[in-house]
Amino acid sequence: MSIPVAILISGGGSNMVRLVESMTGDHPGRACLVLSNDPAAGGLQKAREMGIATAAVDHRAFKGDREGFEKALISEIDRAGAQVICLAGFMRILTPLFIGHYAGRMLNIHPSLLPKYRGLDTHARALAAGDSEAGCTVHEVTAELDDGPILGQAVVPIRPGDTPEALAARVQVREHELYPLVLRRFLSGERERIFLN
Ligand code: GRF
Repeated sequence: MSIPVAILISGGGSNMVRLVESMTGDHPGRACLVLSNDPAAGGLQKAREMGIATAAVDHRAFKGDREGFEKALISEIDRAGAQVICLAGFMRILTPLFIGHYAGRMLNIHPSLLPKYRGLDTHARALAAGDSEAGCTVHEVTAELDDGPILGQAVVPIRPGDTPEALAARVQVREHELYPLVLRRFLSGERERIFLN
């Protein structure tokens, strides 16, 4: 029996596509739902084209009622039977209500080498700091923003003249490698950190 995985997105969903594509054959997981807070998220259409069930819970309808929004998310996720949750460019801050419900079974990908640059604008901040390398991190989600045990990281060198956009594009290539690799290991019970150079 494979483990049903829900993937939460807010945008184009390129990481989601790689995760869905990876979950075939002898992979321990299967994508059971792609869920977005934005009914217009481009990734929803991509998921449908891959034959994956989709749902949208528009956060704007809840007018700041975060608990109400999260309860609606939980009801979609649990109805789909998901056991593991992958946040993949899901741009809503989650409260302890949601995080507690999926404690120990929710992953996130963040575009920096955590613990550096939690939050937004990670690439611009790495460039402004004069860093020589950037990268991405897959970690377990805990109550603190972009915190939680690190499961894997991939490093990307920063080149002279890099812009945040150019760097983001190079980091994304590594995100697409790292996230499927870490998910597969996570579903197989492996918690040891991996590091891609
Ligand atoms: C990725 O860069 C990820 O690191 C960040 O949001 C972006 C989502 O991109 N959390 P996509 O929707 O997977 O293309």
